[in-house]
Amino acid sequence: MKQVVISGTGLFTPKDSISNDELVASYNAYAQAFNESNQSAIASGEVEALPESNSAFIEKASGIKSRYVIDKEGVLDPTRMVPHISERPNEEWSVQCEMAISAAKQAMTESGKSASDIDAVIVACSNMQRPYPAVAVEVQMALGIKGFAYDMNVACSSATFGIQAGVSAIQNGSAKAVLMVNPEICSGHLNFRDRDSHFIFGDACTAVIMEAEEDSSSQAKFRILGTKLQTHFSNNIRNNSGFLNRCDENGLGKADKLFVQNGRKVFKEVCPMVADQIASHLEEHQIQASDLKRMWLHQANLSMNQLIAKRVLGRAATEEEAPVILDTYANTSSAGSIIAYHLHKQDIKEGDLGVICSFGAGYSIGSVIVQKVA
Ligand code: COA
Repeated sequence: MKQVVISGTGLFTPKDSISNDELVASYNAYAQAFNESNQSAIASGEVEALPESNSAFIEKASGIKSRYVIDKEGVLDPTRMVPHISERPNEEWSVQCEMAISAAKQAMTESGKSASDIDAVIVACSNMQRPYPAVAVEVQMALGIKGFAYDMNVACSSATFGIQAGVSAIQNGSAKAVLMVNPEICSGHLNFRDRDSHFIFGDACTAVIMEAEEDSSSQAKFRILGTKLQTHFSNNIRNNSGFLNRCDENGLGKADKLFVQNGRKVFKEVCPMVADQIASHLEEHQIQASDLKRMWLHQANLSMNQLIAKRVLGRAATEEEAPVILDTYANTSSAGSIIAYHLHKQDIKEGDLGVICSFGAGYSIGSVIVQKVA
């Protein structure tokens, strides 16, 4: 069976960044306006007053200090709290396609591959901007890639599941080199009027090139020693937006058509599952946790990552061992662990071992054990 490598990665980061203070000011202006216009209903107990949000809480509870977004103005306007992303004519590249092109070009440069070397494109992310034609086919066309392309969605674990799909395609001979991209526009499905979660997400796009080790001349390549995937149904992270929404008018515009979570439960239930998965995956490959140079973990919550890394290593991890990018990017869904990998892989030496691990809605967990190749 062919040995597959990740031979290049890329990252698109939107220009606009929003600090916690800016986000909280917008939320609090919205909450104050709501409370004022509902004064009498609040006084009679018919409506609950909205409590204010708080920057110090956000940083302490999540580790997030700021996030990048496609459109800052629309998000921060307390009368709107939704990014402005104009519809485009069908003849123009879509927003997700544009983000994917930018990240993909970087990954192609790092791997030393051109469009003619790649023959499969996977767009893997939490939300596609339309059901069809697949965004991946558009990206394939935009980059001039032959072969086939498809979209897939496993929420925050889309990238690691996409890596396994890429490895399989190369090993079963259906593709020589695979481009896997994760255009996450989380600001599009985040309810900025929900105090419990308005701070959670940011936007970004990552790209990964996979190919057979024998075909790769990249200096940045990492051998994929193994992938392991796990899913377990849970309603604790859910988004009910879908094509059947219009069939029941009662549900239109309701908050469950955006991201909803029970963060406490997610934290408690997912951490042990992730730590166990990494431990058992390492064991299957006869790798000791102490042999791991790095863990590029999904970036949702700092304490969550510290807890998972501690359970895996049996001691607290250093920042070098489990790098953090959620402080400036927030949770970028499937892009998070790949951003951590992209930004924190340059110092890894030949033979060093690491694990990329994602976790999120589903629940879904994906781990990818990698080893630096010369
Ligand atoms: N500002 C101020 N206070 C807030 C607040 C805000 N923005 N949001 C919630 N609070 C309050 C709550 O009302 C609650 O008050 P109470 O104790 O008086 O009831 C208190 O802060 C604690 O809220 P809770 O939701 O329990 O906080 P938490 O410590 O669990 O942190 C998360 C919330 C979301 C940061 C955390 O649970 C988390 O990150 N979980 C994992 C989520 C995850 O990984 N999801 C995957 C997404 S893809």
